[in-house]
Amino acid sequence: MTGLRRVGPEEFVSRLDSVLDIYTAAMVPPADQLSGRRVIMGNHASHPGFTCLFAELPDGTPVGLAYGFHGVPGQWWHDVVHQAVAERHGAAGARDWLDDALELAEVHVRPGYQGAGIGRSLVLGVCAGRPERTVVLSTRDLPTAARHLYRSIGFVDLLTGFVFPGGYERYVIAGAALPLVPGRQDPAHRREGAG
Ligand SMILES: CC(C)(COP(=O)(O)OP(=O)(O)OC[C@H]1O[C@@H](n2cnc3c(N)ncnc32)[C@H](O)[C@@H]1OP(=O)(O)O)[C@@H](O)C(=O)NCCC(=O)NCCS
Repeated sequence: MTGLRRVGPEEFVSRLDSVLDIYTAAMVPPADQLSGRRVIMGNHASHPGFTCLFAELPDGTPVGLAYGFHGVPGQWWHDVVHQAVAERHGAAGARDWLDDALELAEVHVRPGYQGAGIGRSLVLGVCAGRPERTVVLSTRDLPTAARHLYRSIGFVDLLTGFVFPGGYERYVIAGAALPLVPGRQDPAHRREGAG
């Protein structure tokens, strides 16, 4: 049984060891990327509107987390994605999706705890009550649990096969309008709707 707990930027920075530990278990990144990832995550905590949820066991051990912040010009991800979405959807499309957006930066659940609804609760919890017009994110362009989860919550693909500058893996840029629509978050409802 896990509970969700809101974690402020100062605690987030002080718990970066735990954050990196969950990230590493979930993503299995190359070891030489971890120190850079740690710096990036630490910087994220200073972005406007930073919000984070930990999913914790009853003894307080975190087994999952999700965090995001308000995207603004000057942030690397925001600027790169804004330009690419503008090229694909026009300047107005980029403004609609990205000029008042919660950027969902990370969502991870330890492998032993996946598939129990924690990831869904984390995403819904981070998005709940946000003032922004949209929520946007990037995720690998592969048939992953993350892709399935985001689609089932109502995210649509803004870009597919997108390669970030300096990278090589293909990503999807996805977005959803806020507030998320409750009916879309319920798989049973979706099945009834589809049936
Ligand atoms: C993505 C992730 C956070 C989801 O967390 P989770 O706690 O497992 O998610 P949930 O249990 O809430 O729901 C996952 C959904 O994906 C489905 N799912 C699980 N494994 C899947 C897989 N391999 N392929 C497709 N769908 C899958 C589940 O059935 C569930 O869908 P449903 O509610 O329609 O049945 C977690 O799998 C994870 O940490 N993955 C590795 C890291 C990662 O990719 N993070 C996201 C980066 S953008």
